Amino acid sequence: MKIKNAEWRKSMQIKVDYNNMMADYIGKEQGFTAKNLADNKKLAIQAFETVNKNRGTGMMGWTELPYNQKEIVDDIILTAKNIKKKFDNFVVLGIGGSALGPIAVFQALCHLRHNELPKSKRKAPKLYVEDNVDPERMVALLDVLDLDKTIFNVVTKSGATSETMAQYLIIMDILKKRYGDKAKDHMIATTSAHKGNLIKIAQVEGLKTFYIPDGVGGRFSELCPVGLLPAAVLGIDIKALLAGAAYMDKLCKSRDIKKNPALVTALLEYLAMQNGKNISVMMPYADSLKYIADWYCQLWGESLGKAVDNDGNEVFVGQTPVKALGVTDQHSQVQLYREGPFDKVITIIAVENYRNTVEISKGCEDIPDVNFLCGHTMNELITAERKATEYALTTAHRLNYTITLPEVNAFTIGQLLFMFELETAYTGAMLNIDTFNQPGVEGGKNATYALFGKKGYEATKAEMDNAPKKNSEYIC
Ligand code: PA5
Repeated sequence: MKIKNAEWRKSMQIKVDYNNMMADYIGKEQGFTAKNLADNKKLAIQAFETVNKNRGTGMMGWTELPYNQKEIVDDIILTAKNIKKKFDNFVVLGIGGSALGPIAVFQALCHLRHNELPKSKRKAPKLYVEDNVDPERMVALLDVLDLDKTIFNVVTKSGATSETMAQYLIIMDILKKRYGDKAKDHMIATTSAHKGNLIKIAQVEGLKTFYIPDGVGGRFSELCPVGLLPAAVLGIDIKALLAGAAYMDKLCKSRDIKKNPALVTALLEYLAMQNGKNISVMMPYADSLKYIADWYCQLWGESLGKAVDNDGNEVFVGQTPVKALGVTDQHSQVQLYREGPFDKVITIIAVENYRNTVEISKGCEDIPDVNFLCGHTMNELITAERKATEYALTTAHRLNYTITLPEVNAFTIGQLLFMFELETAYTGAMLNIDTFNQPGVEGGKNATYALFGKKGYEATKAEMDNAPKKNSEYIC
């Protein structure tokens, strides 16, 4: 993909239409008025300034990723080229932020049946992202891989995550038994340069290593080597991804909510939360964007779901993110979205131009109830269904807004990811919480360490041992 001139970039700008968040469209019971937005202008500006002030510092290193990775990108592209020459399978071992971004970008920008294509059409290794420790899945993976043609990328920022390190141990053992000293040719590490165990292991084993910058947390890491290496291996234009992110960053330089798409959606979601909308549904109308919704769920859920605010007050904030797929979930979830409790904001992601057009064949001339489809395309059908859902939600007074991508390409996906990251940061600032920590995740990690007898977690183990025993009366 070539990033073309300024005119092309503008034609590829993603747009946010929030009419259906407004009282004029969904009624004053649920919707917001221009006055509501004006009354909260100060809050939005404060959030904008907090985010701006902290850019590139602390855990906000991710804001600079579109600009500060020239050498790393060159190294990634070269490494990817060599991988493509030697290997047919690229396997990511990672979880959470180390997995969801690579999966989302793979699905968005590769052929939807990439792994099933013959090699001649695929032109890049198959991708597997192993983000669980289900033993059946590990065996199934090993059943399909030709190890001679496989390279693994172990990804963990902390270098301590049990799931990822268990996978590493299993795979490295297999590789060493098979390849001896050459095992390292089948493993790349992506981790923190300073912290954790993986960096130490990588140095001892002599693994090719990419670094996750200190200020980039797992869920904000797709645009660093965590996501860029798998993307480059798949033949995705990673410079276009980063250019898209930079383009969105520029669009979001304004403190005026009417001009800053991430700020206006942050404010609307924040106001919705204040009105008890505790659920955020992300509903792309494109299979290619299905896992962007998954990635968003982690970003939104882990960043905003917090017990205490920055002043130490108990706040228990956050919205439960839900992924849905248009049109599939029209036949599963939309009944609830339209008629259930008024507790949701539904974000629809639209695509203007799909990369393929499929005509609906002629037939059933004698059956008008089927024949009405003929002469149209699937593109028209999915678009009509999206508009129909938007209409159905709006007439039922349900908060919804639509993000439109002119098409799905590396430049628009870069914009989309960066917009969601900024929106999350702004919303966290409005909520006055630490958007970038995840004590709840650490709690689970620590309990696992304790159960496995890891040194230093004896107190947690004792606490767990002393937890009330289960009552058999409540088990049937
Ligand atoms: O966003 C986060 O920081 C987490 O969800 C992590 O991505 C996840 O826990 C994996 O952590 P690590 O990269 O340290 O293995």
